[in-house]
Amino acid sequence: MTHNILFEPYQLNQNMTLKNRIVMAPMNRSMADDNFIPTSAMADYYARRADTGLIITESLMISTTAQGYPNTPAIYSPEQVEGWKAVTEKVHRNGGKIFAQIWHTGRVSHPIYLNGEKPLAPSAVPLKGRVPRTADLQYETPRAMTSEEIKKIISDFTHAAANAKKAGFDGVEIHAANGYLLDQFLHWDTNRRTDQWGGTPENMSRILFEVIRKVKKEIGHVGVRLSPTAYLHLDHDERDIQVSDYVLKHLNEYGLAYVHTGMFEDNYQPHLNATVTQYIKRLYKGTVIACGGYSAETGGKALIDGDADLVAIGRPLIANPDYVIKVRQQLPLVSYDVEMLNQLF
Ligand SMILES: Cc1cc2nc3c(=O)[nH]c(=O)nc-3n(C[C@H](O)[C@H](O)[C@H](O)COP(=O)(O)O)c2cc1C
Repeated sequence: MTHNILFEPYQLNQNMTLKNRIVMAPMNRSMADDNFIPTSAMADYYARRADTGLIITESLMISTTAQGYPNTPAIYSPEQVEGWKAVTEKVHRNGGKIFAQIWHTGRVSHPIYLNGEKPLAPSAVPLKGRVPRTADLQYETPRAMTSEEIKKIISDFTHAAANAKKAGFDGVEIHAANGYLLDQFLHWDTNRRTDQWGGTPENMSRILFEVIRKVKKEIGHVGVRLSPTAYLHLDHDERDIQVSDYVLKHLNEYGLAYVHTGMFEDNYQPHLNATVTQYIKRLYKGTVIACGGYSAETGGKALIDGDADLVAIGRPLIANPDYVIKVRQQLPLVSYDVEMLNQLF
């Protein structure tokens, strides 16, 4: 049975061992209260999934400029830190481990979330389309950030990481995937800058490496999520691979907990001649988490084949809070349905 490998413990580094190789993928549920504080229902939701080897929380806003959806939780205020303490305590009591995913949406936002201000982005390039969960709003042209504003964002990520430590998280995941702010810097479609933050792979990834360096000083265990393929919220450019090659090679120098694939379906990509996870594994020598459409069978196979070290499961874990037990005992799984997003269970 290929999926037995999923139940072997995994030593993430010398200070942390995961009890199995199933990771809960970050999934925003937009169920925080109106001050962006996690509720007790959210604490119960995460605690019910504490038998996964590692939980990665939904994306947490690092500042008031980070929002792009209603009621997404945050980690910039002391009250939010208190709220997350209740979550981490419950998860730990149930024997789990939990990292906070820290996030800024960049241009994937709208003035309705920003007190009427324009969203911040590397360049003034609008995202086309309608803002989800609004009546009929279109995305607008964002404002290109000044160098000072970029430095402020780096310090907001750092502050969020310090808060994550205070809240009892075991580590943080820097969200540099799925077309949000840090990913916008890593792609030519959204980064048209000609200063030290754009124009070359080194400049385009400068903000990410600054964030990693500073965040690492606040909390020891730091993972990074990446989407080398522009599949969401931005368009592909042939030069993108030069940026992701550069980033992945240099990530080897930072003593990270892991690099995590940010994809909805981790399919074969002709331009990479591999799946995104296989491509990451080719260049990044530390722990790699596969994600995107995996079942216990295909996830187990990816581990056996050496494509990844851990596998993150998203939607099946929404549908099955008892996913780990069901897979272990080979019980049938409930199928995921978007209607399930209306409540936490
Ligand atoms: C409801 C929902 C919310 C998500 N929110 C996040 C998020 O907050 N951060 C993130 O990096 N990815 C997010 N994702 C992507 C998942 O982490 C994952 O990549 C995706 O669901 C594919 O994995 P799966 O096929 O196992 O579900 C979300 C996905 C879903 C379905």
